[in-house]
Amino acid sequence: MPYAELWTKTTASKEIASFYLKKFGHLLKWKDYKETILEVGCAEGSVTKELLFPFVKNHVKKLVAIDKLDDMISCAKKANTIAEIDFQVMDAMDGESVTKKANQFDHIFSTMVAHWITDNKTYLTNLHRMLKPGGQIFQTQLTNEQVLRKSFQKQFKEGRWKKYVPDDPVFPDYTDEPIKYVKNLFQEVGFEVEFCEMKDDVSIVENFGDFLKPLFYIYKHLDKIPKDLHEEFFQYHIQNSRNFCIYRGEPDKYEYHYQTLICIGSKTK
Ligand SMILES: C[S@@+](CC[C@H](N)C(=O)[O-])C[C@H]1O[C@@H](n2cnc3c(N)ncnc32)[C@H](O)[C@@H]1O
Repeated sequence: MPYAELWTKTTASKEIASFYLKKFGHLLKWKDYKETILEVGCAEGSVTKELLFPFVKNHVKKLVAIDKLDDMISCAKKANTIAEIDFQVMDAMDGESVTKKANQFDHIFSTMVAHWITDNKTYLTNLHRMLKPGGQIFQTQLTNEQVLRKSFQKQFKEGRWKKYVPDDPVFPDYTDEPIKYVKNLFQEVGFEVEFCEMKDDVSIVENFGDFLKPLFYIYKHLDKIPKDLHEEFFQYHIQNSRNFCIYRGEPDKYEYHYQTLICIGSKTK
C-alpha cells in the first residue's frame, strides 16, 4: 500500500491532535471576520478534514493545508469534498514560497511537524512571516523523548548505514529543558508566547511497521540511501524501533512512550 494511504490508518497522531485541540483550542482568539488559516505539514489530510476543519469551521473562509510530500497531497486532494480546504504541495523551509504567502494568515496550525525539521529557528521564522500581525500560531510537537529519535541515532552510528548518512542530526535537540528551549525560540523569532506546556504520553499501536513506514518518507536524507536498499533500511529501522517499545501482542502491537509539547503564540507586530 502506498505510504500516504498507510498514514490514513494512523490513529496515534490523530489522538494527539484531537487531545490538544479539545483541551487548549479555547485559548485561540478568533477575528470578527471569516479567517484565512494555514495548516503546515497536513500529511494525507485526515487530521485536516476530520479534526481541524470541524474545529475552525465557524471561523474560516479558506483553510490552506500544505505538505512538502507530493504523494501526501495527491492522496489528500483525492478524497477532499470540502470546498473551503485548499491542499497544496509546499515546503515550509522554502524561502521563496514563504515570501509568496507572507502576512496572509490569521491562524497557523502545525501539529507534529516541528521535530522533523532540524532547523526549528528558520521553520518558526517562516511561520511567523506567513502570519498576519495579530495572528496566532498553535503548535504541537515531540521533544527529545521519542522512539524514532533513539532509533535513528542508533542506526546511524552503525557501519552498515553510517556511510549513507550525512553528519547532520535528523531531529533537533530540544535539550533537557524543552519548554524553556521552545519558548525561547518562539520569542527569538518574534512571537509572544501565550501558553506552553509539556506532557508524558503513551500510545499503543497495532501494525507497528505500517505505522512507521510513512514516517521514513519524511526523513530528509532518504534520497542519500540507494533506492534498492530502502526496504532493507525500513525493515531494519522497524526492528530497531521495536526494541525501544513494549510488546503488547498481535498484530504487531507495541506500546511506546514519548513527550508532547504544545506552544501557542501570537505575532504582535
Ligand atoms: C508526522 S506527520 C504529521 C501529520 C499531521 N499534521 C498530524 O498531526 O497527524 C508530519 C508531516 O509534516 C510534513 N513536513 C515535514 N517537514 C515539512 C516541511 N518542511 N514543509 C511542509 N511539510 C513538512 C511531512 O511531510 C509529514 O507529512
